[in-house]
This record gives sequence, C-alpha cells and structure tokens, in this order.
Amino acid sequence: MKHATIIGTGRCLPEQVMTNDDLANIVETSDEWITSRTGIKQRRISTGENTSDLAYKAGLRALERAGLEAEALDLIICATITPDSFMPSVACMVQERLGAKRAAAFDLSAACTGLVFAMTVATSFIENGMFQNILVIGAETLSKAMDWTDRGTCVLFGDGAGAVVLQASEQKQGILSMHMVSDGSKQDYLCLPALPVSNPFVEKRDKEFTPYISMKGQEVFKFAVRTISDLIKNVLAKAELQVEDVKYVVAHQANYRIIEQAAKFAGIPLDKFFINLDRYGNTSAATIGIALDEMNEKEMLKPGDKLILVGFGGGMTSGAVLLEWN
Ligand code: COA
Repeated sequence: MKHATIIGTGRCLPEQVMTNDDLANIVETSDEWITSRTGIKQRRISTGENTSDLAYKAGLRALERAGLEAEALDLIICATITPDSFMPSVACMVQERLGAKRAAAFDLSAACTGLVFAMTVATSFIENGMFQNILVIGAETLSKAMDWTDRGTCVLFGDGAGAVVLQASEQKQGILSMHMVSDGSKQDYLCLPALPVSNPFVEKRDKEFTPYISMKGQEVFKFAVRTISDLIKNVLAKAELQVEDVKYVVAHQANYRIIEQAAKFAGIPLDKFFINLDRYGNTSAATIGIALDEMNEKEMLKPGDKLILVGFGGGMTSGAVLLEWN
C-alpha cells in the first residue's frame, strides 16, 4: 500500500487587518468581551479578493515549497463553504490559474472540518493507487457570509486560505490514521443558507431568507470540546500510539477556551496545541492549513514528529488525521 505524505504547505491571508476595537466601532462589543470569550484579537478581511484568489495563492505557495510543477498534479480538492459561485467550483478556477492541466478538480463542503475531510479523501485516493500528487486547499471569504450587525457571529470569523500538497510514498510515513464523523441531527447548530426554492410552481416565497451565518454558540461549544477529545483518542488508538508520542495538535482555530477544555478532556498539555486564532479568528476550512504552513515556516516540524490535525464544524461534521512529518 502507498502512503500519503505532506511535501509542501502554503497559506494566503488578505492584507486588511480588522482588530476587536475596529469591530467595536461597528457593533456593540469590546476587545475585552471578544478576547475573554474567544481569545481572538484580530482577523484578516478581504477588500475584494474572493475565495478562489486566496485559494490560488495558497496553492501556488504550497507547490513552490513542495518543488512540484502544477502539471504534476493529479487532483485538486478545495474545501470551502464560501465559493465564488455554485458553478464552476473554486477547485476548477484554481486548476486553470495554476495551469494544472492534468488534474481533476472539485470542491468539498464540510464547513470547518473541510480540510481534514479533504485530506482524508485525498489520502484514500493515494493509498488505493489512483493518484500520486494531490493539492488540498481550505479557503474561505467568510466576510461575505457575515451579518455585520450580528455581534454574536461577526466577531468570530475571518478570511484566508491554507493548502497542503500530498504525495504518494512507498515508506510508512505521512498520514498514519484518520477518522470522519457527521451528525445531521445537529444541522441547526451552524447554518449558512443557499438560494431558496423559488420558481413558478412555488406559491409561498421565503421572505425570511437571509444569506448569513447563524449559530447556536453554546451548543457548538459543547459539541466541539467533546468531539476534539474523542477524535484525538480515536486516531491515536487506530495508529496504536499514546498521547506522549504526539508532538503537536493542530485543532480547528475557533475559540481558545474550546481548545483549552478539549486539551484537558484529552489529557494533553495545552502547550502541545498550536494556536494562531488570536491573529486570524476562525477562517473555517482554512484554519488548519494556515496553522500547518506557519509551523512549517517556523521550522517547528522535524522528520518523525507526530501531529494530530482535528477539525469540527457545521453539519455537524468532525474529523481528525494523525500524521508523521517527513
Ligand atoms: N460582544 C458583547 N456581548 C456579546 C457579544 C459580543 N460580540 N456576543 C454576544 N454577546 C452577549 C449576548 O448578547 C449575551 O447577552 P445577554 O446575557 O444580555 O443576553 C451575552 O453576551 C452572553 O452570550 P452567550 O452567547 O451566552 O455567550 P457565551 O459565553 O456562550 O459566548 C460564544 C458566546 C459565541 C463566544 C461561545 O458560545 C462560543 O465560542 N461558541 C462556539 C462558537 C464557534 O466556535 N463557532 C464556530 C464553530 S466552527
């Protein structure tokens, strides 16, 4: 069996910084409230870049770091809930801009778990021998899906993209175990509506329709804490490893308090969790890719290091991969 290894990472964040104080000028909130409830200090907000622009730049950077030509790619998967359009997919737009002529391309919708789900799908294609080189991107412009009058949501999110290049290897390294969970019974915890059904046969048009993110914050919080610790235990057991074997956990960057409690539940010291949500907020499918690229750039990752990537999000979805850096 082949194994999927990470050979490159990349990220792209819009230049525009929005601080908590900036938000306090728009809605009734404060730096103190946001920092103490979430750990977020600032986020990056698009001044016009769409999801495909951020995805392209993160993907290009990941290819450069991997030293791989775009034409060597077999597949591009873009995880996003804020695509430029329903059709074409962001992945197809990226394929064209990169010149990845041989690559198949599609988007994947699993909200903030998107990158982990996409890496799991990509790993399966590599393990079964179908593909050799796969670009996986998580990219969002959540700022276009925000109700900027709703202080309960608009303070949490930001825009950005993160990417990894996965390559087939004969050696047992890279992704060692993975797990995916979905629970549609909790679909009302986090919602972002698409177009309502409206045609000549529909008598009652939906007047309530709003194209913005809504959320049951406390339910999401409880779900997240439980699911992160459960998933960490799951992928450790599958890989026959112990907590002590893990160098870092890269959890979805939604809220510092979620990570703090999940670390306690999982019995892992908090300092093993990489944190950058203070600078970027929650960029949904992009957070884990952005974090990985920052860690890679800072040379924090050494061959043989074991990492767990763990995400959770709307659906509700959640998933984790355990990997050995190479
Ligand atoms: N600034 C100031 N006050 C705010 C506020 C803001 N940005 N947002 C909400 N409040 C107010 C509420 O209106 C409420 O006021 P009230 O008591 O007068 O009604 C009060 O703060 C408490 O709100 P509550 O929702 O109970 O706060 P909380 O302690 O649950 O924290 C979250 C709210 C959103 C920070 C928290 O629930 C959370 O992080 N949940 C997870 C969300 C998440 O990560 N989503 C993405 C997952 S992928």
